[in-house]
Amino acid sequence: MQLPTLASGFLALAALAHAAQLSQITNFGANPSGAKMYLYVPDKLAANPPIVVAIHYCTGTAQAYFTGTPYARLADTHGFIVIYPESPYSGGCWDVSSPASLTHNGGGNSNAIANMVQWTLSQPHYAADPSRVFAVGTSSGAMMTNVLAATYPALFRAGSAYAGVPAGCFSTGTEAGWNSTCANGRSVATQDAWAATARAMGPAGYAGPRPRMRVSHGSADDVIYPQNFNETLKQWAGVFGYAYGAPREALAGVPRAGWTTHVYGENLVGVYGAGVTHDIPIDGAADMEWFGITGGGGAVTTTTRVASSTLVTLTTTTRTSSAAAVTTTAPALGGCAAARWAQCGGIGFGGCKTCVAPYTCKFSNDWYSQCL
Ligand SMILES: *[C@@H]1O[C@H](CO)[C@@H](O)[C@H](O)[C@H]1NC(C)=O
Ligand SMILES: *[C@@H]1O[C@H](CO)[C@@H](O)[C@H](O)[C@H]1NC(C)=O
Repeated sequence: MQLPTLASGFLALAALAHAAQLSQITNFGANPSGAKMYLYVPDKLAANPPIVVAIHYCTGTAQAYFTGTPYARLADTHGFIVIYPESPYSGGCWDVSSPASLTHNGGGNSNAIANMVQWTLSQPHYAADPSRVFAVGTSSGAMMTNVLAATYPALFRAGSAYAGVPAGCFSTGTEAGWNSTCANGRSVATQDAWAATARAMGPAGYAGPRPRMRVSHGSADDVIYPQNFNETLKQWAGVFGYAYGAPREALAGVPRAGWTTHVYGENLVGVYGAGVTHDIPIDGAADMEWFGITGGGGAVTTTTRVASSTLVTLTTTTRTSSAAAVTTTAPALGGCAAARWAQCGGIGFGGCKTCVAPYTCKFSNDWYSQCL
């Protein structure tokens, strides 16, 4: 009876020793703001795996978000890659307040995270899918999720923000500032004004697809006041052309008792927890569905549970694969021509290196140039 016990103990240790680890990547590209990049690649990677960027809260670290959230375990199950960025600032908050981070390619933390994604996409042995890059975060990380959706709309397919604020709401003009007007729910604007704020943060004139957004918040949040739930929904409702005040459905008791899910359409869902504080639980399974990693067939399906029995399934149309970032238009005479916003260069890039007129191929970092 001793031997099997010892043997299984040994096997368990051996399995642990082989489990994939969080590893730091130091050379991911231009990084003037000094953000850190950690990567989790599961032992069993899916073919053309999705990438999930999982962004920590203030005082958090990549390691803390790696161990404290379900995404690494979900990556083991579904074979996607997780990027855990880490804030370079002493309080561990993200810069969601300076012009550098609130601007596309502005050199701030949002730009650093975009470069982490580009680096990961550029690794031929991962062959990650550029049309399935997602962002999720809590608190300061949720603010960054909204900022990334606004500043890099072509890079992200979907986002999920837990207890954040609208993109641009935390603006202070300084790096990693704290905007208490916004935190305390006193930055109130129309959906058109919030949408204009988000659009102004992106590439000039951008008219392509934008990430679908899932916004979660607790009604008893006294750190990032719950008004920010309403304001964030206004922002993305404005961007997607929904009426903020008239969601298509308000599903009481979804995803569980005390919560209400406001469905605007395939691009926007708000999830509000009555009595839930800033310590908001992460719903990894719901995120997987929202990202289309689960739900089958590549279609974006939201399955939500009403009370404890009835299943409500909202099946939405699949978004055209990679429409955002990497499509090319008809080749120009005598060669090829990449579309506006398309990648046109970078280490390991084998595609078309000239852009359709009047756009030119602009260097972003060693791994990524884009037709702008
Ligand atoms: C805080 O952000 C709001 C927009 O949400 C802005 O109007 C206000 O000026 C900012 N406060 C500071 C101190 O920068
Ligand atoms: C914000 O949204 C919640 C959830 O829908 C709602 O209960 C609350 O009344 C809204 N707040 C305002 C000021 O509209």
